[in-house]
Amino acid sequence: MRIEKISKSRINKIDFNDISFGNHYSDHMLYCKFKNGKWENPIIKPFGKITVSPISLVFHYGQAIFEGMKAYKDKLENVFLFRPMENFNRMNSSAKRLKMPLISKSIFRDGLKKLINLDKKWIPNNYGQSLYIRPFIIASDGKLSANPSKKYIFMIICTPAKNYYSTPLKVKIEQKYSRSAEGGIGFTKAAGNYASSFYPTNIAQKEGYDQILWTDSSTHSFIEESGTMNVFFYIKDCLITAPANEKILSGITRKSIITLAKEKGLKVKECNLSVSELLYSFRKNLVKEVFGCGTAVVVNHFKQIGYKGKNYFLPKISYDKRISFFLKKRLLDIQHNVVDDPFGWRKKINGNGLT
Ligand code: PLP
Ligand code: COI
Repeated sequence: MRIEKISKSRINKIDFNDISFGNHYSDHMLYCKFKNGKWENPIIKPFGKITVSPISLVFHYGQAIFEGMKAYKDKLENVFLFRPMENFNRMNSSAKRLKMPLISKSIFRDGLKKLINLDKKWIPNNYGQSLYIRPFIIASDGKLSANPSKKYIFMIICTPAKNYYSTPLKVKIEQKYSRSAEGGIGFTKAAGNYASSFYPTNIAQKEGYDQILWTDSSTHSFIEESGTMNVFFYIKDCLITAPANEKILSGITRKSIITLAKEKGLKVKECNLSVSELLYSFRKNLVKEVFGCGTAVVVNHFKQIGYKGKNYFLPKISYDKRISFFLKKRLLDIQHNVVDDPFGWRKKINGNGLT
C-alpha cells in the first residue's frame, strides 16, 4: 500500500480538551478507487479534498454508504479497535443492498491498521475519548441515468471524539414521518437514511426535543430506534429493545449491551414494544430507565419522552445507580483495556496488524 505522509502534522493545532464531534480530522486518509470491476490498490495520503465529476451518482441518486467505529488507547498507549469485523460485515451488507461492490477484507483491515498506526497520536488518551473512524463508499461515476455506478471510491477518515451528547436526552415519539419501511434500507448505513431524518428531526427540535423516537411506518405504534442510536427500555425488571430486523440498524453497541446485560444477570427481551404499552408502564411507574446507544453516542440516557404533545418523565436516579451507567462503564472498561475482555471484542493494533 502506498503511503504519502503529510509534511507537517496539524496535531499541535488541536486542543484535545476542547474537541467536539467532527470538528477536526487526523493527518491522513485512506483512498481507494473501484473501476473496471475491481478495487485498485489503496493509498494513504494527507487528509484533503478529492476531485469527483459532477455527474457522480452519489450527488444525484445518493448511492453512498458509511460505517462508524472507534480506536481506543489504554494507559500504556496500546491501541485497540472494538469488534472491527462487525463493521466490515455491515458495510458489505449495506453495499450489497445499494448495489455497490463489496470491499475486500484485506483492503478494509490492512487499510485501517496502517491508517490508525500512522495517525495514532490523534487518538486521545483519556478514558471515554477515542478516535472516531469513518469508512465510506461513494458512487463516483455515471451517466445521469438512474443506474448503479461503475466507479466508486472507498475512503477512511478519522476524527478525535469525546461525548456525542453531553446531557440526557428528550425524545419525541414520531407519529407522522418514518425513518424506514419494510423492504427498505433501514438496516443499512446508507447516507439517504440520515438525509431523510433531518427534516422531521428539525421539527422535533423546534418543539424542544433532541431527537425522534422512530415508530413503525405502517401504524406508528411500535418503537424502533432513535436518531443515531438503538434504544433500550428498562421496564419493571426487564431490559427491552426492538428486534434487529430489516427496518433497524443492527447496532454493534446494541449487540454488546445485550451481551453485557445478560452477563450481569438481567432479563433482556428483543421484542416490539408498543407505544401504548410504554405509556401504560409510565402511568404505572414501571419505567425505570430509557437509554440510547451507538458508536458515536456510546450510552446516553433519556430524561423525557413526548407523545402527542404530552411529556412523560423518567425517574431521577443518580448516575451510579443506573443500569445504563453500569453497562456504559463495563463497555468502556473493555474498550479501553481496563478489564479483561471475555468476549474477544477488543482487537489490538500493532505493527503487524490486527491481532
Ligand atoms: N441506529 C442508527 C440509525 C445509527 O446511525 C447508529 C450508529 O451507528 C446506531 C443505531 C448504532 O449502531 P452502532 O452501535 O453500530 O454504532
Ligand atoms: C455512529 O454512531 O457511528 C454514527 O454513525 C453516528 C453518526 C451518524 C454521527
